[in-house]
Amino acid sequence: MGSAFAFHWLASAPAGDLVLVDVDADAVQAQLMDLQHLRGLGARPGVRIGSTEALAEADVVVVAASLSAPAGPDRAAMVTRNAGLLAGLLPNLRLVRPDALVVVATNPVDAITTLVVDSGSLRAEQVLGLSLNDTLRFRAALAQHFGVEIGRVEGWNLGQHGGAQVPVYSAVSVDGRPRSVAPADRPPIDSYLADWFRSYQELRPGRSTGWASAAGIGRMIDTWWNRRPAPLPCSRVLGGEYGLKGVALGVPVDLSGDRPAVVELRLTGAEEAGLLRAGEAVGRAVRALRDAVARERGDA
Ligand SMILES: NC(=O)c1ccc[n+]([C@@H]2O[C@H](COP(=O)([O-])OP(=O)(O)OC[C@H]3O[C@@H](n4cnc5c(N)ncnc54)[C@H](O)[C@@H]3O)[C@@H](O)[C@H]2O)c1
Repeated sequence: MGSAFAFHWLASAPAGDLVLVDVDADAVQAQLMDLQHLRGLGARPGVRIGSTEALAEADVVVVAASLSAPAGPDRAAMVTRNAGLLAGLLPNLRLVRPDALVVVATNPVDAITTLVVDSGSLRAEQVLGLSLNDTLRFRAALAQHFGVEIGRVEGWNLGQHGGAQVPVYSAVSVDGRPRSVAPADRPPIDSYLADWFRSYQELRPGRSTGWASAAGIGRMIDTWWNRRPAPLPCSRVLGGEYGLKGVALGVPVDLSGDRPAVVELRLTGAEEAGLLRAGEAVGRAVRALRDAVARERGDA
């Protein structure tokens, strides 16, 4: 997925330099050899291989490293898979500039986003997890329900990425006009959300979702860099918003100011309860992952 992002960014960004950091020297060299030829097709940014020292200079850091093979359908089993990677990565993130943006894609994304902020050197508002796909899937299902193009639909799927999700039926609109979805019409939409990842994996694609994820990271960076006004769904450590504190969850984030801020939608009681359940689920994942990272470091 990191290479899909690299391709997307090089092909679309107006300027800049992309530094690739990967422990697999041959694989990253092969990616570089391929990506460099984009310049011959008009790509404007440069691209090179670097080390973690590049973190100290970066405006934006994208964390897409993973120890695991492409995720299986059981995300719960994936919770501690990247503990060894995090044990090495978290201290390195101290190099990141206080005004830089860190985008975390690696799963479990909400728990890792939480641990990155907990590790102490970065502020909650500069560390955003990739949870945009959950909302894209909700909008795709809503578009099918209403019989319209997905781009005309607004709707938010909050909560835990790929886990305890909260599709916010109370704030759905088409062409900017509020639309309701009758409770009787919701089960197929909920099933689509619950089953999407399993259906994808059953096709044995041999990789995690790359294209929409790569474009999603690109959208997050473009929105932040250009201070664009439309909020985006991102996993962000909450500081009391939605009644939750100290865990990262997918929520709308306004990236137009100097400090990306959580946007609080007006939720129904059931939606609020769902978000609290999501917070508890991420809290459990954070504890499991924190313990596993401590074991990896040998301090537990
Ligand atoms: N949040 C989302 O919506 C979303 C979407 C897609 C993928 N993902 C996650 O992104 C991660 C990457 O997925 P992928 O399919 O690209 O995996 P992948 O196995 O294809 O690639 C992972 C890469 O990380 C490298 N790596 C391992 N340890 C490293 C380290 N310490 N430093 C630098 N590089 C290191 C590996 O060499 C490999 O090239 C996974 O955790 C996946 O679940 C998240």
